Amino acid sequence: MKPKVHEHQKTNFKGVSKKIFLLFLLISVTVYSQQKGLVAEKAMVVSAREEASKIGVDIIKKGGNAFDAMVATQLALAVAYPYAGNISGGGFMVYRKANGDVGSLDFREKAPQKASKNMYQDKNGNVIPQLSTNGALSVGIPGSVAGIFEVHKKFGKLPLAALFQPSIDLAEKGIVVTEKEKAKLDEYRAVIVKISGDKTLYNKTFQVGDTIKYLALANTLKEILKNGKDEFYKGNTAKKLVSFLKQKGGIITLKDLADYKVVWRKPIIFRYKELNIISMAPPSSGGITLAQIMKMIEPYDVSKFGYNSPHYIQLLVEAERRAYADRNYFLGDPDFVKIPQKQLLNDTYLKDRMKSFSFDKATSSADVSHGNVSVYESMETTHYSIVDSEGNAVAVTTTVNDAYGSKLYCDELGFFLNDQMDDFSSKPGVPNLYGLVGAEANSIAPKKRMLSSMTPTIVEKNGQLLMLLGSPGGSTIITSVLQTILNVYEFKMTMQQAVDAPRFHNQWLPDDIMVEPNKFDKTTLENLMSKGYNINEKFAPVLGKVDAILVQPDRKLEGGADFRGDDKAAGF
Ligand code: GLY
Repeated sequence: MKPKVHEHQKTNFKGVSKKIFLLFLLISVTVYSQQKGLVAEKAMVVSAREEASKIGVDIIKKGGNAFDAMVATQLALAVAYPYAGNISGGGFMVYRKANGDVGSLDFREKAPQKASKNMYQDKNGNVIPQLSTNGALSVGIPGSVAGIFEVHKKFGKLPLAALFQPSIDLAEKGIVVTEKEKAKLDEYRAVIVKISGDKTLYNKTFQVGDTIKYLALANTLKEILKNGKDEFYKGNTAKKLVSFLKQKGGIITLKDLADYKVVWRKPIIFRYKELNIISMAPPSSGGITLAQIMKMIEPYDVSKFGYNSPHYIQLLVEAERRAYADRNYFLGDPDFVKIPQKQLLNDTYLKDRMKSFSFDKATSSADVSHGNVSVYESMETTHYSIVDSEGNAVAVTTTVNDAYGSKLYCDELGFFLNDQMDDFSSKPGVPNLYGLVGAEANSIAPKKRMLSSMTPTIVEKNGQLLMLLGSPGGSTIITSVLQTILNVYEFKMTMQQAVDAPRFHNQWLPDDIMVEPNKFDKTTLENLMSKGYNINEKFAPVLGKVDAILVQPDRKLEGGADFRGDDKAAGF
């Protein structure tokens, strides 16, 4: 029998709902800076800098496709965003063509031939601080130039000159310093000068509104355009680079550069409820870890828990804890180590992993298997998302690892060198700066690729493109991508709301929930603490910086450009 509802109870209920609704509205307004991002009918690029997004979109306007725009955007970020954009680092591209074909390109850096397992340890076996993060010895063999040439060779439509020229012009015209960039330049100036010498371009206090011209970089780009990929890997640029690195104590040789090769890899593809998710395979840990977390939370009615509620945070954290424990133990360069990929993604295995989880109490990371070894990953990387007017989608995450890479700026060639060697475990077993715990699978070996967390990801629904996204943030990339997908799918946010929404993160060790400071409800955090969770608001002032595109039900594109940076969407 249906319970009888008295009129006054109905009224009360309505009153309560109204209050809850108003409260929700108030929270939404406070939490989200903007309801919707840029909406465009045909094509869009979202990246860390407006100049780069515009250059990418102009290429599509001129008849280029998303792959042409990838080349142009990667080059433009190398000019406009030296903090992470590059021709001297590496990255991963995941694509979905308009006809539904998917694939991915690995242009990750590699360890030089002279690299060795203990190269960052002293004779007592202790890790020498900063040897793997600052200066010439931290540099991995760059993959970005090989990456853009490979993408162009396989899928490009426009001539390379059309893709290079806008960035050459931009470098000659110069980049205007923003407030956020000034803050970063001020923060890193001393160490850049210490590593690169006081004659470096960066030994100057730039003010907001100043224009920095990159004439040496413009010249390097012209040489690469004139002589092709070999200019960077075998030609004059290669010779200058090797001699510069040698003089600074580096070990990369001309043979290392000449031998560098990109790899087309099969992406990680998995289902989450109605979604089909396509992400990056090893040597990125992104795809497998994202898949493990999403498969572990799939049996739950996530949307019913409520956005950033205690139950929601608990569920994600417990799945993350278990997935990162596996990540750090099993994953590495698939060309060097055997990864039990099938088993790690097996439904029964993942169900078993969650058997020890209860909403009553936090699991201790000490009780989740595999530990004793450690890896540090930096927070600085950049992601861009592209959809062209034919419907091709390209998601690229690229990096020089730390902010301004190794802080070693080659003034003659006009770029910072990466410090990607630091993404290897310098010494399994020792906790590092960010406390990520890794293993033998990611130890250093000549020609090996270092494990990454970069997670360029494409989401399909009903066989059609729904969303593409990615983020910087080292180990926090994966959980930033995860929460952004869930924000759209489970909590029905717009793309812009989804990228701006506050984020949290757990990576097994340290056994903390990192949360963006002052963004989470106090009672929610108290509830979690009462169940045994450690809340860390200090470590993570920024968790990820997501740049994404959503295909709306009317087939228009909505950009999500993260408010945490100078990120911008451009489209038409
Ligand atoms: N260097 C950051 C990453 O590859 O995840």
